[in-house]
Amino acid sequence: MTVEANPTSLPNLPPGPLDASAGPPDATNGKVVIRLSQIAKNYQVGTETVHALRGVDLTIYKGEYVAIMGPSGSGKSTMMNVLGCLDTPSSGRFELNGIDVSDMDDNRLADIRNQEIGFVFQTFNLLARSTALHNVELPLIYAGVNAERRREVAIEAMGQVGLADRMLHKPNEMSGGQRQRVAVARALVNHPSIILADEPTGNLDSKTGEEIMGLFEVLYKKGNTLIVVTHEEDVARHARRLIRIRDGLIASDEIITHKTAVSA
Ligand SMILES: Nc1ncnc2c1ncn2[C@@H]1O[C@H](COP(=O)(O)OP(=O)(O)O)[C@@H](O)[C@H]1O
Ligand SMILES: [Mg+2]
Repeated sequence: MTVEANPTSLPNLPPGPLDASAGPPDATNGKVVIRLSQIAKNYQVGTETVHALRGVDLTIYKGEYVAIMGPSGSGKSTMMNVLGCLDTPSSGRFELNGIDVSDMDDNRLADIRNQEIGFVFQTFNLLARSTALHNVELPLIYAGVNAERRREVAIEAMGQVGLADRMLHKPNEMSGGQRQRVAVARALVNHPSIILADEPTGNLDSKTGEEIMGLFEVLYKKGNTLIVVTHEEDVARHARRLIRIRDGLIASDEIITHKTAVSA
């Protein structure tokens, strides 16, 4: 596999065709899931204003698998928070599935989050006293899905991440890799428009991390839209598009070609 700058992939153009191994989505015909126009985010710290994002333009299509990298302090988490509707930008426009979410109040943002976004965090963020199954059911509870249907869908999601036999375990009875699988099942269960992962392998050993990235690959091939923030090149390599952020701006945006794979 090589990461190469693709001269045809300017920041706001859909990525060009990938090689045959790259999975189903054809982003060139794709539906826009995320459109950021001149997004800025400032933080006021005492008398000083920190410009965490300084006018970001970005389009992401349905079915893309995007990695976001950048040095510490470059604005990755701020970008994740905006993309995940956890925070609103100071200025600019953010359209999620064609709907302007830039100025929504917290209640509406919470609804959008619940319906449209699946989160995977470095620290798993599971409820310690609840079973894996209950953790996976949580987004469905917030969404008002009835108990019977909830259970059915959560069981299915547990199956998808290979944990059909661990439903009633609690997080402290599971390995780190299993916990992250539960978190992935929870992220999936609402069929979100995007799955946002912030350093998903950061608390895992490299072998377990690779297993989680293998799971992401399966999700990608099923047509999910994935955005992964990471500082590890090895993790980013799994994606199909690599965006580097520096000082609150997109410094590069390139296609990752996966030349190996398939054949076998
Ligand atoms: N809540 C906050 N209040 C003040 N400054 C912040 C806050 N969050 C982030 N920043 C600042 O914004 C910049 C970008 O931070 P961040 O998005 O966390 O970067 P990264 O995740 O790439 O390390 C940094 O200078 C950071 O100190
Ligand atoms: Mg960060």
